[in-house]
This record gives sequence, structure tokens and C-alpha cells, in this order.
Amino acid sequence: MNIEKIRDDFPILSRHNRGVPFAYLDNAATSQKPSIVIDSIKNYYASSNSNVHRGVYELAEEAEHLYHNSRKFISQYFNASEKETIFVRGATEGLNLIAHSYASDILNQNDEIIVTEMEHHANIVPWQLVCEKTGAKLKVCPTLPDGSLDREWISKNISRESVKLISLTAISNTLGTINPVAEITTEAKSFGKTVVIDGAQSVPHQKTDFRKLGCDFFTFSGHKVFGPMGIGVVLGKEAILREMIPYQGGGDMIDQVSFEGTTFAPAPQKFEAGTPNVAGAIGLGKAIEYISQFSMEEIAQHEHLLYKTALRGLAEIAGFKEHGTTENKAAVLSFTIENIHPHDLATFLDAQGIAIRTGHHCCQPLMKVLGVEATARASFALYNTEEEAVRLVEAVKKAVSILK
Ligand SMILES: Cc1ncc(COP(=O)(O)O)c(C=O)c1O
Repeated sequence: MNIEKIRDDFPILSRHNRGVPFAYLDNAATSQKPSIVIDSIKNYYASSNSNVHRGVYELAEEAEHLYHNSRKFISQYFNASEKETIFVRGATEGLNLIAHSYASDILNQNDEIIVTEMEHHANIVPWQLVCEKTGAKLKVCPTLPDGSLDREWISKNISRESVKLISLTAISNTLGTINPVAEITTEAKSFGKTVVIDGAQSVPHQKTDFRKLGCDFFTFSGHKVFGPMGIGVVLGKEAILREMIPYQGGGDMIDQVSFEGTTFAPAPQKFEAGTPNVAGAIGLGKAIEYISQFSMEEIAQHEHLLYKTALRGLAEIAGFKEHGTTENKAAVLSFTIENIHPHDLATFLDAQGIAIRTGHHCCQPLMKVLGVEATARASFALYNTEEEAVRLVEAVKKAVSILK
């Protein structure tokens, strides 16, 4: 991979931060955007903007064509059909859609939903809302000390009659753990359970074949995969989507409306009420086009190298602790340093031009399991360099010598 050439694709990477060359190491929060994505949004508004589904004039047809083509390209990338590809605002809306339109309708007080301790709040709270509504219960799969899932716990519990659904993340945004979602899906499906995968952190680092994976739903956010904010996707099996009630009502999702009752358009339109984020969908299509020029294995390998460089250097610091040490992990380095608050550390790094994240990373239950209030988190993407990983280590060492 030619990293310098890749960096040229991302205009923001040449900016400074506090007057120092910028090292962006907060990719698990959001990724930066290549020119191909930025230009597609600008071009759409400059020359193709119109509402979709409604117009007969040339401009409207053009907007419709771009929107449709983006869905087609994205569905092909994930080996799903267009009917199975629903545009949403992001993984959060995706999980809420699945929870409300699917789970609320089929679960009752005797049922259980499995989630894991390492889930983002977006994959906890929607299920809690379903539980409140239906009386169903949440069962939580523990995380082992190395940050991997307690696989035995899943095997012990997935076959239980009361368990109807499991929803888990493919990669933990805090620990970096890569979960064996294909294996878990196969096991869960062999007992007839519904499987929901949160792909928010996996899509930028791993290729997903929806059909081969065999889960019922898969969702992700565009902004974490070099696409725009405010757009994401739910992939859902066609037969299930056909039976599901809509998530929201309004224009564009109907077949016939009368005061006596309404019939709905087929999926995916049934789940896309109102004027969609056309520019966002086009930008996301371009982001997927952008990453599909690379081998995802090569991206993951490059990122892992940077993670290892950073880890090796930081591990020399007295009081350093990595949270999430399993071998099978993405390039997410969550850590704490004894007697130094992560926020102080991040503020110090900011002054050195380095952007990392601190806090609970929307994983408060996981923080409790780890026994910390917050961690510092450096997360790498394909455009990061070895030099940036070294800069991180040096800046943290300097911070420690001053703050301690
Ligand atoms: C694992 C995981 N799931 C879900 C989300 C929610 O994504 P969004 O805020 O884009 O909807 C995130 C965002 O950080 C995440 O990391």
C-alpha cells in the first residue's frame, strides 16, 4: 500500500492541529473523507440536486439514478440484494429500526435477547426499550479478561428455548476485539435464533459477505467507513423485511393511503419514510467504491503494524495498561496510565497535534467491567503512518514525565 498516495486522497490530513502537523488517531469515532466522497456531495448539490421518487423532469431523473445506483453498488459490495439494502442515518438508527420494527413485534415476556458486555450503547439501549415494551429480558454475555467474548457462555445459552435473538458487535469500538461473528451466527442459526450484527467498526477493516455470513440483519454507519455523516445501512433478509412493520410512516414508504387505512411499499422503501439523504447515499456509495480498490486484508495488516508499534512503545511506560489484549483484534489501542487521567493525557496530546479519544466510548457497562471510568483510545486507519504511531508514543512519554 502506498500510504503517501492514500494520504493525498484525504485533504484534511494536510491541516495542522494547534499549529503542529496533524496526526488523526480517532478513527473509531469517525473517519476522514477522501476527495472522491467530498466531490460527489459537492457535485450532487451543484448539478444534480432534486427530490427523488417524485419528479418527471431530467434533473429529478438524474438524482433518482444516482441514488439508485448507489444502493445498487453498496448492495453488490455486501452481496445483498437492493431490496435488502435500507438507507438509514447510521448504525444507531439501524439498530433502533431492527429493535422496533422487528423485535418489538415478535417478542413477549417469556423471551430473552442476548447482547454482550462489550456493546456500544447503540446496541444496548434499543433492546432495553424493546424489553420495556414487550416484557422480554436482556441476557448479557461476559467479556473475558483479555477482552474476548466468553464463547462458552454463548454456546451454553444460545440453545435455550427462551432466547430468540442475539445482537452483537463484529468489532468492539473500545477493546478492538474481533468477534467470531460467522461462527456465532452459524451456531445461533442452527437453533433458529435471529442474529443481528453491529458492523459499525468492522466495515472499515473487514469485507462482509451478507449472504455468506448468514445473519438476519447487519448494520453500519457511513461516516466510519470514509463516507458522510448521517447515512448508514441496514441489510436485512428479504423474507424477514417483507413481514416487518414499518419503523416510521410518511411519504415515499406507502402504496395507497386513505383514511380507512394504508398499504405500504415493498422493502426497502417501506423503511425509508420521507425525503432521504440523497447526497449522503451518493457519498457512501463513493466511499465504498474508494475502499473496494484495496485489499481489506492489506488494510488490516497495515493498521495492525501501527497498533503494534504504538503498543510496544507505550508498554515501556510504568503504570501503562492496555484494555483488550486478545491477539485477534483490530487496530484499536485503549489504555490507561496509573495516576494520569485520560482527559489530561488527551489534552496534552492535542497540543502536540495528535487527536485521540478519551472517555467511556459509549460503553459505560464495559467500563464497569474493566474497573475504570474512562480510557484513552488511539485507533488507526489506512492513511495513518508509522511515524504517527511513533509520535504518539513519544508524546505520551513526554506527557507522563510532566503530568506525573
Ligand atoms: C460498535 C459501534 N456500534 C454502534 C455505533 C453507533 O454508530 P453511530 O453513532 O454512527 O450511529 C458505534 C459508534 O461509535 C460503534 O462504535
